[in-house]
Amino acid sequence: MSHKSFKAVIPAAGLGTRFLPATKAMPKEMLPVVDKPAIQYVVEEATDAGIDDILIIIGRNKNNLSNHFDSVPELEDKLRAKGDIDKLNKVQRSSELADIHFVRQGEPKGLGHAVSRARAHVGDHPFAVLLGDDLIDERDPLLTTMLAQHERTGATIIALMEVDPEQIHMYGAAAIEATDTDDFVKVTGLVEKPSKEDAPSNLAIIGRYVLTPAVFDVLDHTEPGKGGEIQLTDALQELATQEDGPGVYGVVFRGRRYDTGDRVDYIKAIVQLASDREDLGPELRPWLKDFAATL
Ligand code: G1P
Repeated sequence: MSHKSFKAVIPAAGLGTRFLPATKAMPKEMLPVVDKPAIQYVVEEATDAGIDDILIIIGRNKNNLSNHFDSVPELEDKLRAKGDIDKLNKVQRSSELADIHFVRQGEPKGLGHAVSRARAHVGDHPFAVLLGDDLIDERDPLLTTMLAQHERTGATIIALMEVDPEQIHMYGAAAIEATDTDDFVKVTGLVEKPSKEDAPSNLAIIGRYVLTPAVFDVLDHTEPGKGGEIQLTDALQELATQEDGPGVYGVVFRGRRYDTGDRVDYIKAIVQLASDREDLGPELRPWLKDFAATL
């Protein structure tokens, strides 16, 4: 199904401090995951769901990001002259993927604030938000399911995933009620990064959202929350508990997700993705086994 009427917003304005010094002069969304920057996977996920208008919310180091999605005529000419069509296609792909726009966040005041910066571009329409720290395997089309659920219900849709209760403090956590549809739940409450004791469940928000434009008015009056930042989770909590709105629903995801948010998870994501690839896996997998045996 095509979802051309939706725009996607990708916040990429974080400071990336967990990856210093690699992120000193480069946004963390440009870190390579095997041989593509993390953000290209996310853009491809949006285009695979039929979205071709993408707004990236940037912080410092804008040039790295915009150059990646631009053409590089001198490199392309060289590859064409050498007849290296495979590499030429790789270089051209990122500039032909989608219609990509950029807006600056200004001060880094949190995810909710970053999303509110999309208002002028998005206008009065529902839109998708994709966070670059979570990569969703292309074989498990989560966003397409979420867009279809939004079209059916008119509601805000978030992606939820069961995590180990010990990990819930790293995520937004949802209180839910079942619906008639498997893995589609009504969200009755949300808490950003609760302690294990305070978490309403072990269902964590993973970084995919289909939002309605009503979120912008809510974000306008959302006070700084966890960590002193304006939290998207807090705005969604208000939408979930409004009596007259369409509410918030969750798609429970049971597919393959790769976390690139911290260093160990980032290394795991690279190993998992590379060992699954046809071009790299056959060489990598036996080595991995031998290496694991030495540990
Ligand atoms: C953000 C959200 C959080 C969500 C997480 C998913 O947190 O605030 O609710 O669970 O993304 O990756 P961050 O990881 O940016 O601190």
